[in-house]
Amino acid sequence: MAHYYMEPSRTFSEFLLVPNLTTKECNPSNVTLKTPIVKFKKGEKPAYSLNIPFSSAVMQAVSDERMAVALARSGGISFIFGSQSVESQAAMVRKAKSYKAGFVVSRSNLMPTHTLRDVLDLKERTGHSTVAITSDGSANGKLLGIVTGRDYRISRDSLTKKVSDFMTPFEKLVYGKSGITLSEANDLIWDHKLNCLPVVDADNNLDYLVFRKDYDEHKENPSELLDANKSYVVGAGINTKDYEERVPALVAAGVDVLVIDSSDGYSEWQKDTIEYVKSNFDVKIGAGNVVDREGFLYLVEAGADFIKVGIGGGSICITREQKGIGRGQASALIEVAAARDEYYGHTGIYVPICSDGGIVHDYHITLALAMGADFVMMGRYFARFDESPTRKLKVGNNFVKEFWGEGSNRARNWERYDTGGKAGLMFEEGVDSYVPYAGSLQENLGKTIHKIKSTMCNCGSLTIAELQKNARITLVSATSIIEGGAHDVILKENSITGE
Ligand code: IMP
Repeated sequence: MAHYYMEPSRTFSEFLLVPNLTTKECNPSNVTLKTPIVKFKKGEKPAYSLNIPFSSAVMQAVSDERMAVALARSGGISFIFGSQSVESQAAMVRKAKSYKAGFVVSRSNLMPTHTLRDVLDLKERTGHSTVAITSDGSANGKLLGIVTGRDYRISRDSLTKKVSDFMTPFEKLVYGKSGITLSEANDLIWDHKLNCLPVVDADNNLDYLVFRKDYDEHKENPSELLDANKSYVVGAGINTKDYEERVPALVAAGVDVLVIDSSDGYSEWQKDTIEYVKSNFDVKIGAGNVVDREGFLYLVEAGADFIKVGIGGGSICITREQKGIGRGQASALIEVAAARDEYYGHTGIYVPICSDGGIVHDYHITLALAMGADFVMMGRYFARFDESPTRKLKVGNNFVKEFWGEGSNRARNWERYDTGGKAGLMFEEGVDSYVPYAGSLQENLGKTIHKIKSTMCNCGSLTIAELQKNARITLVSATSIIEGGAHDVILKENSITGE
């Protein structure tokens, strides 16, 4: 006979947190959201922790190199989407890894034989007023000079004037040597009143430019997530089909954490993939998605470093309608978290879990953490920001951004869903949609984080671990959900204006 779960499976909106005593030290500024992302032994530290419990979804419409840099700068991690060629995914990882906080690879470069007209054209195209002059016009060629707006006068100089005749030549430049730290670079910038400091290697090849404004930005991001070389920590999604080609390329590009991206991770394919990665590379790998104890234990025993939880709860997901598989996100998380704690209890190995999909309100994140998640993964949330890779459009009077599922015809990520069969028999498990445009990641994330920290204070918790231990969570009835919104008042925006 089939096994029946007699309790209905539940979603985040069916729960609320009940406050605990808020002590005087429970102030949002004392709350830390640092959280492990990979497994560790009792008493030891995890190899990677996040400074905020956020990851961005393995989706074309969400996680490219720009999102990876923006999110790592705020303390989280992006998993760059895998539904693209191995080469282009590895190139995205490489770009995000080579983006050194405050150190930028020069994007406007010319040779001394170019003319003032070329400088002006380039400035028009890129918007950059600092142009590096290198021997071959490349970003890493031998540095011969710099041109800024101070080096020419459009009203006086001929447009055919050679760059070599008006650039500030290398001999007159103040520059830093490779290996210089950001604060040393900043000292040079201040001492010499510069806007930009070139950094060159032992042969005077250009490595980076450091701009005064980038240093200020770096100072504003104390939570940024850096590796030992001060590069941002970057993740990437892989599948269970082409991992023998994809993983070596991603590792060579410098990826820190991999995740197997699948709508149903409780499979022998995932075990094979984990075993291949673990026996060939020293890189961390998460697996999933699962929604129960058995799935969790299977992937943990296969060697996964973290486990992703959730089937069918994603905003663009139609898996439950198409296939009738899945489980309410809260129920899935509660069961997997209990299995994780039990596993920790008898092995002393803590395996972090990630709640993936179905976060609609900011408080859902706090609930997910309280229910045992160590971090969350979100698609819709991040798709709304400037930093997501998709187009911003005006629909009616509102700005929106495009957002499509990995299981939609648009993404064609069949590796994520394929369980065998002919390619022609594939069916969609996701939709193509819009989400309301919300502005910059940093601003929105700041508000969300403040809300989470405030709620944690209500729950008397200064850390995620304390919240997981202390939280008191109640089910809500359908009628109390109505009570929770504004009710029995006439909202002003809908009211009739008087004469
Ligand atoms: P969201 O945060 O609710 O938008 O959910 C994002 C999550 O939905 C992703 O991390 C995936 O786990 C999942 N997902 C992405 N694309 C699809 C799809 O096309 N169908 C089903 N689930 C998807």
